[in-house]
Amino acid sequence: MRIAMIGTGYVGLVSGACFSEFGHSVTCVDLNAAVIERLKAGEIPIFEPGLEDLVARNARAGRLTFTTDLAEGVKGADAVFIAVGTPSRRGDGHADLSYVYAAARQIAEAAPDSCVIVNKSTVPVGTAEEVERIAREVAPGKAISVASNPEFLREGSAIEDFMRPDRVVCGVADDQARDTLKAIYRPLSLREVPILFTERATAEVIKYAANAFLAVKISFINEIADLCEKVGADVQGVAKGIGLDKRIGPKFLHPGPGYGGSCFPKDTLALLKTAEDNAVALQIVAATVKVNDERKRAMADRIIAACGGSVAGKTIGILGLTFKPNTDDMRDAPSLVIVPALQAAGAKVKAFDPEGMKAAAALLPGVEMCGDVYAALDGADAAVLLTEWNEFRALDLGRVRQKLRVPVFVDLRNVYPVEEISGALINYSSIGRRKMDS
Ligand SMILES: NC(=O)c1ccc[n+]([C@@H]2O[C@H](COP(=O)([O-])OP(=O)(O)OC[C@H]3O[C@@H](n4cnc5c(N)ncnc54)[C@H](O)[C@@H]3O)[C@@H](O)[C@H]2O)c1
Repeated sequence: MRIAMIGTGYVGLVSGACFSEFGHSVTCVDLNAAVIERLKAGEIPIFEPGLEDLVARNARAGRLTFTTDLAEGVKGADAVFIAVGTPSRRGDGHADLSYVYAAARQIAEAAPDSCVIVNKSTVPVGTAEEVERIAREVAPGKAISVASNPEFLREGSAIEDFMRPDRVVCGVADDQARDTLKAIYRPLSLREVPILFTERATAEVIKYAANAFLAVKISFINEIADLCEKVGADVQGVAKGIGLDKRIGPKFLHPGPGYGGSCFPKDTLALLKTAEDNAVALQIVAATVKVNDERKRAMADRIIAACGGSVAGKTIGILGLTFKPNTDDMRDAPSLVIVPALQAAGAKVKAFDPEGMKAAAALLPGVEMCGDVYAALDGADAAVLLTEWNEFRALDLGRVRQKLRVPVFVDLRNVYPVEEISGALINYSSIGRRKMDS
């Protein structure tokens, strides 16, 4: 199959590289010339484990190429995937579909006489229909079919997720789209990955319902963690105890500072807007969003409380800024709420993140970015573990304590066993496991 991938961000680049690994011939297109230049030179513009090797191998084999020229990229393509951003629209929280529609227009103009446009971007229900309308308007003579193929990969394990997904969802309205997607995903169906064919609207709703459900689980366990703290229970034990129930499952039951990232915050908001437009009350999703917003702010209060009720004039050392480990993505990271709240309360903030500091520096003015963990904690009045990068999992606690002016350690990811660390650091505060020491 000959595939064009429009947009080479986290989803487009990973999907394009993985399709080429399947043996398809893939051209990745992006309008950002600097990104394409770097890709052509063998550099990967984002941090995603394993991606550099995958791209290099397939580029060398001649199956993966890069261009800024969309018309050249879609030449002869059997399928053109749209993987451009769909951020929250400023002001109202609807998904901003302007990039998707602009891409659809350009694709329809340049597409061969017969091809399938596949929406991989996360888009509200009805978008495939609108893309089809655009294609008919721009290129009435062409046999262009439109499909919806939402992506479920997670940053940080994106290649594994793409290569071994729990399922692939394909929303189609005709045989041309069905046959093309079947052929593209054949390497996965041979491995018995379930390939689910649905109506396009169903596929579009599946993506939002999946993300909303996972967000619900996170907000749920965060609220249970608050209760555990008050009643002297251990949320880790509770999560294990409920997660072993197969109807519930163990995943996404880790309490923390609230969900962030490029998907859950914007997708829950967009889903609420779709519901509102259709006069349906999604009260559980609305509560989830509210709990999560409040959670991020409450984490700053928790740090302030651990510092004795005030951080004015104090220095806080933050470990981890990205919304989760193994990515450099800072979109909607909890740090973007917590750090400014600490600064507003008078704190000076120092930070270290293995991959996120470049992106974070532009978003968190006034934060001193440090070269390593111990530099971030040097002379600080408190350490805050905000993102559970592997290299924060085995800190030298003696050294941490030595570096800190006052031994306060706020672990927002419950990385350390309470018994192990509360002795080493006089004031150790974690989530949902015990009342705050102090
Ligand atoms: N990031 C994730 O983990 C993830 C997971 C699943 C689904 N998604 C969804 O996938 C979509 C893409 O997300 P992302 O994180 O990869 O976005 P991104 O912002 O990292 O990348 C989008 C890319 O598209 C390019 N682009 C925009 N318009 C273009 C055009 N007309 N022609 C060529 N290139 C164009 C941009 O320059 C950018 O490089 C979104 O809808 C997102 O919700 C993301």
